[in-house]
Amino acid sequence: MDTTVHAVQLAGTDQSFFCAADDTVLRAALRHGIAFPYECNVGSCGNCKFELIEGQVSTLWPEAPGLSEKDKQRNRWLGCQTRALGDLQIKLRTGDKYRPIHTPVRTSARLVSSRTITHDISEFGFELVQPMTFASGQYALVQLAGVTGPRAYSMSNAGVSGTALAFQVRRLPQGAGSTALFEQLRVGDAVEIDGPYGMAYLREHAARDILCVAGGSGLSPMVSVARGAFASAPLAPRQLHFVYGARLPADVCGQDMLQVLPGWRERGSYHAVVSGLDREAPLPEGLARGFVHDMVDQAYGDRLADMEIYFAGPALMAQSLLKLLIARKVPMDQVHFDQFY
Ligand SMILES: Cc1cc2nc3c(=O)[nH]c(=O)nc-3n(C[C@H](O)[C@H](O)[C@H](O)COP(=O)(O)OP(=O)(O)OC[C@H]3O[C@@H](n4cnc5c(N)ncnc54)[C@H](O)[C@@H]3O)c2cc1C
Ligand code: FES
Repeated sequence: MDTTVHAVQLAGTDQSFFCAADDTVLRAALRHGIAFPYECNVGSCGNCKFELIEGQVSTLWPEAPGLSEKDKQRNRWLGCQTRALGDLQIKLRTGDKYRPIHTPVRTSARLVSSRTITHDISEFGFELVQPMTFASGQYALVQLAGVTGPRAYSMSNAGVSGTALAFQVRRLPQGAGSTALFEQLRVGDAVEIDGPYGMAYLREHAARDILCVAGGSGLSPMVSVARGAFASAPLAPRQLHFVYGARLPADVCGQDMLQVLPGWRERGSYHAVVSGLDREAPLPEGLARGFVHDMVDQAYGDRLADMEIYFAGPALMAQSLLKLLIARKVPMDQVHFDQFY
């Protein structure tokens, strides 16, 4: 293991941090409490770009989609894919909302359980060697043996300080990471986990009813937010509404995990909506037909502006929901989501 550490200075500020040779510039900064902008942590969104003023770096993924040719010509790099090869001076604009609420830790972990949820979603439980503190709704990076680059997975358990983490993961037929999780990883096998990350965590002191909207693998962080909300004393007077959007009835899930939460009967509601069922096909009991944003508008419409709203899922669902929330004049500081890539 390389124990070399380099100093990184933020140009034009008095902020600096140390970056281990085997860490990335973004994650080292966050471990030091620096409010370094980011979102996906996996090279896709481009939010973690910085300009290299002085020093040498290397990239873990030269073709990462988050960086354009123009960026490369301007000596811009992705913080989540860049390693320091010596001391650096870099330029970026920090943003307070990115300051970590819990310090990310890197630790090895072992798979302790796996449980089928639907035909293509399972929950994987891990036992960490070092404890991690995270808030409901956050995610961690999982490095699997034989897979290039870590994968971001949102925790499904309620935020805690401890050594148990669970992730609900959707299997992609051609996906290297999800296939390794579903097909190769066995109970007792080791992975590396780095977290927590993400800004779409449960706001325990927001005195509003809660709406959680999940599509597909967005289930995991929304179940975590719901579990966290039902365990939170400040949120005890609040209602929580959970909407799950799926393509077909066989994809619908989540209700069984929610209705066991103490107080769910009095404070919780669950709706599922399917978008891919033929008009002529009979609709199973308890399901609605259509798109998730239409169902949210029909069910909550005018009340949206008074709710704390969390969502996770496919890009198209996220865009349609955002459009609706803007049209319904929901203040954006009441809306929390991490885009999945
Ligand atoms: C914040 C966040 C939270 C997420 N939470 C969940 C969740 O709870 N459940 C869930 O099922 N999915 C979640 N995802 C999606 C998940 O991270 C994977 O993208 C998905 O499982 C597909 O991965 P794959 O390896 O199977 O597919 P692949 O197509 O093999 O890989 C796609 C992912 O790997 C990254 N990647 C690809 N090649 C490289 C490379 N050479 N170097 C580095 N990175 C590379 C991409 O950026 C992309 O994230 C989340 C994504 C993000 C960003
Ligand atoms: S955070 Fe680095 S590209 Fe998304």
